Formats: sequence, structure tokens, C-alpha cells
Amino acid sequence: MINLKGRDFLKLLDYTTEEIEYLIELAADFKAKKKAGIPHKLHEGKNIALIFEKTSTRTRCAFEVAAMDLGMGVTYLDPTGSQIGKKETIADTARVLSGMYEGIEYRGFGQEIVEELAKYSKVPVWNGLTNEFHPTQILADMLTVKEKLGRLRGVNFVYMGDARFNMGNSLMVGCAKLGLNFTACAPLKYFPDETLIDECEKIAAKTGATLRFETDPMKATAGADVIYTDVWVSMGEPAEVWRERITELSPYAVTERIMANTAEGSIFMHCLPAFHDLGTTIGKEIGEKFGLTSMEVEDSVFESEKSVVFDEAENRMHTIKAVIAATV
Ligand code: CP
Ligand code: NVA
Repeated sequence: MINLKGRDFLKLLDYTTEEIEYLIELAADFKAKKKAGIPHKLHEGKNIALIFEKTSTRTRCAFEVAAMDLGMGVTYLDPTGSQIGKKETIADTARVLSGMYEGIEYRGFGQEIVEELAKYSKVPVWNGLTNEFHPTQILADMLTVKEKLGRLRGVNFVYMGDARFNMGNSLMVGCAKLGLNFTACAPLKYFPDETLIDECEKIAAKTGATLRFETDPMKATAGADVIYTDVWVSMGEPAEVWRERITELSPYAVTERIMANTAEGSIFMHCLPAFHDLGTTIGKEIGEKFGLTSMEVEDSVFESEKSVVFDEAENRMHTIKAVIAATV
């Protein structure tokens, strides 16, 4: 019997395969209940705090709706609206908030900050994205793969682009834990950190997962079941890196040619937000500056039948609900 009460959710490395599978199943159950209109206010009268030192649409809304569906109250602390880091340390913030709330979500910069928050908090702390990891996103992604492909084990999963930041790292860990065949497809310098690769290799040896690091997009994507990408410049990185990223990662953009190289029934995934057209301020500015109409994914792929990006976005809510419900 799996019991996660009181546990933090900081990175998937802290969870066993069975615990992660349990959270995905719990999320599927909550999703079915929500669709059927069956109330599930399991934590009525409790409250959670959401700390965002970086902006968000999905993660914030997912935590808020999930908490409200569970009967909980929510306080949102935006990147400018609290004392955190400016007048008050993370350790003091943890002790203040854990006296008032039953759980704390944190989105920000280094993984050490969320780990510090958890160290001083008496209530569960959930990682809503750091530079290194984005664990709640992976639960949503894996639920989506399971729904669309009917399985996780043995799925050929290819991540294209900057594989050394939060999404590349977390997807590699998630695939290793859940027995998928993970390929990072990027230039050498964008591969995940050696220490993390070693750790994932050890996990993979037990779960039957495989890890592969490939610089050639056509070799990497041949027969893939899932093609996943993320933005080339992440939140918190300086604007100056755009030029280098575009030069180095353009061959790794997800195009129709790439998708045509994949297995029958393959899907396209992206954690979002995505630069698939010039419909945003930054997309327009960067696109015009570098003569591009899209970046990490072509608009025709993003809008294609194979694209499951909005299912993934919805699943953020069901999976985050599972994390809150299980740990509070
Ligand atoms: N995928 C994701 O974390 O989206 P937000 O930045 O909108 O929360
Ligand atoms: N790598 C991206 C993920 C956004 C969900 C970022 O950190 O900005």
C-alpha cells in the first residue's frame, strides 16, 4: 500500500517507480471523477500557498483549480508580491508559511532553493519548476503518453533541443523510472550532466529503460513514438543567448520532415509555452530579428493531428491534484 502523506515532491529521483505510477493512476482516477461530475473535496478546510518567483500560466492554474476541487483555499504569491529573498530568507519563509498552510508550492531558480524550503517546512513542499527539474510536468506528460499510446514501458521517447535544463533532465529521469527508451537529440554541449546520466543509467538498469544520446536528428527520430521539445531559451536566462541557441539548435527543430521519420501513431509533445508562430511579443521580436517564422517546432506540426500539447496542459491539473491529495 503506497502512502505519501507528509512527503515533499521536489524531484522524481526522490520517488520510486511504484510511487510515480501510483500518482499517475490517482490522477487518472481524479480526471474520471471530474469528467463525471463526482465531487472529491478530500481536503476541505485546508489551505495551500503558491510561491512563484518566475511567471506561469499552466502550473499556477493547475495548482489553484486542483486545490479548489479538493475543497482547499489557495494563496498566490507572485514574483514581486512577497518578502521572499529580498527581506526574508527561504528558511524563515518556510517556517512562517508552514504555520498557516498545509502545503507549499515553489517555482523559481536553483533546485537548492526548493530543497532549502522543504528542509525548513513542516508541511509538504512541491516543486513547480526550478532550473534543474520540473517534476509535476513529467507526471502530466506520462499520463498523456499512457492515454494516447496505451503504455509507458518500451515507448521510444525522443527529446529534441536543450536537454541539459529542467525539461531534458526531468524527462530523462521520468523515462528511466518508468521504463521508456529515452533519446536526447541535441548538439553535444546540450546533453544532460554526466552525474545525472550516471544516476539515470543505474535506475534504467533496474526498470528496463534505455538511454541514448544522439546528435543526428534523423538517426534519433527514426521509429520514435514520442517527439518532445521545449523552448530554446528558458525563464531566467539572459536574452543574449538567443543568437547562439538559434544557431546551434535550429537543426533540432521539430519539422514535418522529422515527424515523417517517426513511427506510425507517433505523437508530438511540448510542455508549453511554445514558439510555433509569431503570435506573441517575444516570438515576433526574435522571429523578425533572426528571419524565422517558428523556433523549436513548426506551426504545421504544432497544429497537426499528432500534437497532444493541449491534453498535456489539461493533465497538469489532474496530476497536480494527485500530488496534493496524496501528500497533504
Ligand atoms: N508548462 C508549464 O510549466 O507552463 P507554465 O510556465 O505556464 O506554468
Ligand atoms: N524550460 C522552460 C520550461 C517552461 C515550462 C523554462 O524553464 O522556461
